[in-house]
Amino acid sequence: MRSSSVILCATGAALAAAGLLLPASPVAARFSSFDPQANEVLNRMTLDEKIGQMTQADHNGLADPADVEKYFLGSVLNGGDSDPKSGNTLADWTAMYLGYQSHALKTRLAIPLLYGVDAVHGHNNVLGAVIFPHNIGLGCTRNPELVERAERAVAEEVRAGGINWVFAPCVTAPQDERWGRTYEGFGESPDVVKSMAAAAVRGFQADDLRNPFSVLACAKHFIGDGGTTWGTGSPIDQGDTRVDEASLRRIHMQGYITAIEAGVGSIMPSYNSWNGQKCSGSHRLLTEILKGELGFEGFLISNWAAIDQLPGDYSSQVAQSINAGMDMAMVPERHARFIAALKAVVADGRVSVARIDDAVRRILRVKFAMGLMAAGWTPQIDPRAKASFGSAEHRAVARECVRQSLVLLKNSRKTLPLAKQIGRIHVAGKSADNLGNQCGGWTIDWQGRSGNVTTGTTILAAMRSAVSKSTRVAFSRDGSGAAGADAGVVVVGETPYAEGKGDRADLALTQEDVDAINRMKSAGIPVVLVVVSGRPVILGDALEKADAVVAAWLPGTEGAGVADVLFGDYKPTGKLSISWPRAMAQIPSHPGDAKYDPLFPYGYGLTY
Ligand code: GLC
Repeated sequence: MRSSSVILCATGAALAAAGLLLPASPVAARFSSFDPQANEVLNRMTLDEKIGQMTQADHNGLADPADVEKYFLGSVLNGGDSDPKSGNTLADWTAMYLGYQSHALKTRLAIPLLYGVDAVHGHNNVLGAVIFPHNIGLGCTRNPELVERAERAVAEEVRAGGINWVFAPCVTAPQDERWGRTYEGFGESPDVVKSMAAAAVRGFQADDLRNPFSVLACAKHFIGDGGTTWGTGSPIDQGDTRVDEASLRRIHMQGYITAIEAGVGSIMPSYNSWNGQKCSGSHRLLTEILKGELGFEGFLISNWAAIDQLPGDYSSQVAQSINAGMDMAMVPERHARFIAALKAVVADGRVSVARIDDAVRRILRVKFAMGLMAAGWTPQIDPRAKASFGSAEHRAVARECVRQSLVLLKNSRKTLPLAKQIGRIHVAGKSADNLGNQCGGWTIDWQGRSGNVTTGTTILAAMRSAVSKSTRVAFSRDGSGAAGADAGVVVVGETPYAEGKGDRADLALTQEDVDAINRMKSAGIPVVLVVVSGRPVILGDALEKADAVVAAWLPGTEGAGVADVLFGDYKPTGKLSISWPRAMAQIPSHPGDAKYDPLFPYGYGLTY
């Protein structure tokens, strides 16, 4: 039996059993049903209070947390490198969150904060959280039900510390794997993106946003972030997506359509441009298409200081973005500057009060849908959410995600699965015993870090606990000492990166990786190559040297899911969600292209 069918989110199941899950309601999808209540609050607000609601400061940028009161801030975030100053445990995060909410509750109207984090593969900045595979691996599972369960678990871990908003899911459809954010997308095809986008939103927000185990989701980055062009003067990250509107809709819009259908409450406009115009300043994209045609009733949050990238001086940038339809500004370091600029452009008529009211109404109706506006609201953390943080139940869900995400690319002479009862297995490679490499970027730090970064199981440790007592699992990073072993496993690939720092013109294996493979090969033993990476790498002649090849993507903390596949406790089901090229010259290349001839096509994946 596939264990996926028997793993349930502990707290979700407990809640349902106790009859505590609020009845499924259409509120998530119909935020406008809260307009009467939102208007009532809006009518009592001063312009300063309204503009405060539209402002999101970053924890690191808030020298004085009392600025939440002074400026009536509607939201605070922790960016990728913005951890609590006291430390990085769940207790530190909880105290920080509660501190900010207490300031919000001291304002005249006592409107609680939306508090946002990038929980893009788990509550990933917090020590001890379960780290799930990055989306590229989840896309290879082709299993939206599993992705929904994974994000349900992530939502519970986030709410374990009180935080109520995640900047996820990323519903990009990466078209060129030289882009450093490729792994944040579920895959190159809009089909896989659209089914996973809806599943992820359902997982995060659950049936009802008032549920103490739900978080507000944010589909990002609207639109075309994965379609930017390499090598045409602008960088690929935050660059220019040069496609006609039909292609933009067909490739890059699908995830938003399903996320909106699933009731997503917020969307983040992207840094990139579409045919030369920045998305953060495009009335056509944000207001006409997203809010008008697609009927999006939630609110738009800008990307990190993205408004500063629009043309003109700061007040023109602010006016252009707000008039385009931006409802809340992520102004991490300079909230006071944004507030002053927005006030000035309202005063001189460049932004109408009607637009301000529309933005604030959108934010307030989401706060109503989340239950934040209930009389006497105080931040409550459900003890069951707290108990679920880093729990065995959540690790089991993540392990299931890992097993289903692995793609078997080659398996000559039935090299895999490996026997558990065998004399000696020699393991090598820089990522065999490296939790940080397994997790990738957006883990503890924005860029991620190699090494022992958090609680989890490395692939080597998982293999050691999987084998029978009589089997020895030896390890040398460089592959030396493999002679005489019964089988070899080399785990190589990419080291952590995030966003533009991961943009690469060359995706070949490093010399260190090639050397490790060669040493194993020259020992004359069957060699299994496990590639830990955020995107396809150029395998070159490593493909011939290895008897079996497994793409493990960035599996996260649960290395046991990799061992499950290597030893045949789980027969591989993963299918490539992105084409695997032979050489850099083939990138970009997609199914349907005239010269489509990758090493392994989209959808490829073997089993035992
Ligand atoms: C970033 C990212 C975005 C993220 C935001 C907040 O730089 O581009 O994905 O949600 O800022 O950290």
